[in-house]
Amino acid sequence: MKPRILNFGSINIDHVYRVDHFVQAGETLASDSLSTVLGGKGANQSVAIARAGGDVRHIGRLCETDQWVSTYLEASGVDISLVETVAEPSGHAIIQVDRHGENSILLHGGANIGFESATLEKAIAQYDSGDYLLLQNETNAIALAFELAISKGLKVVLNPAPMSDEILSLPLEKLDTLIVNLGEAQALASKDKLDDVVESLTAKMPNTRILITLGDQGVVFVNNGDVTKIDATTAKVVDTTAAGDTFVGYFMASIVDGLKDLEALDRACRAAALAVESLGAMPSIPTSDQLEG
Ligand code: RIB
Repeated sequence: MKPRILNFGSINIDHVYRVDHFVQAGETLASDSLSTVLGGKGANQSVAIARAGGDVRHIGRLCETDQWVSTYLEASGVDISLVETVAEPSGHAIIQVDRHGENSILLHGGANIGFESATLEKAIAQYDSGDYLLLQNETNAIALAFELAISKGLKVVLNPAPMSDEILSLPLEKLDTLIVNLGEAQALASKDKLDDVVESLTAKMPNTRILITLGDQGVVFVNNGDVTKIDATTAKVVDTTAAGDTFVGYFMASIVDGLKDLEALDRACRAAALAVESLGAMPSIPTSDQLEG
């Protein structure tokens, strides 16, 4: 039987504004367009797993007035039986996308930061040794989820985005897989140069698979002391939002499907490249047919 994937993560409603440049302090800037779409690093990663052909159950919280979100997630193939509807407003993000396709994101945690211990205890108790727990950093109670998962023998995969001090106090050496961008890796390693970052993270987490994503420079993959550099797939950048989430979801789904690490990485890189070619977070995540077709 394949291991199962449980994803404890945020669900956001993203308000995406196309702008010439990011608004500056003291400036009032008219946007070229606005679209309101589903996002959140957690939900994006669940949808990426599902679109890659994987099975995933999402632990999340959502305002009761945002039923369309559950419908969208379910229609995308995500198991939403652990998504609670609550009275608090859903999490949301104000996203500016500039003329180069770069983004700037302002988050409001909302319902994503109201998780209670009992919810996590009940959810993780249903999983067994060898199953995966995927975590990002847009919800409260990450440390508890991590601890519960490790005590049940689950493999924990962490994408510590956005980075915060709380992440530094987690027992990172117990991770199965760490997926970080360069800035996050530098913060975890307290080093600047990539070689030093790799050396420091390897020393801290010798038994953890480490993936450092470098945008259009590709990915550095570290496993058992071996360091491999994978080139990025060329892409015409429209919007980089959710490229990282697409990468994480495709990598997870591919590993659980039995692909070798480097094969899973190749698939994840190609999916992330497709994601940057269209606007928005979740709408830009390709299906496996779009990727292979
Ligand atoms: O990674 C992209 C996501 O970050 C967006 O969907 C936004 O909601 C923020 O969480």
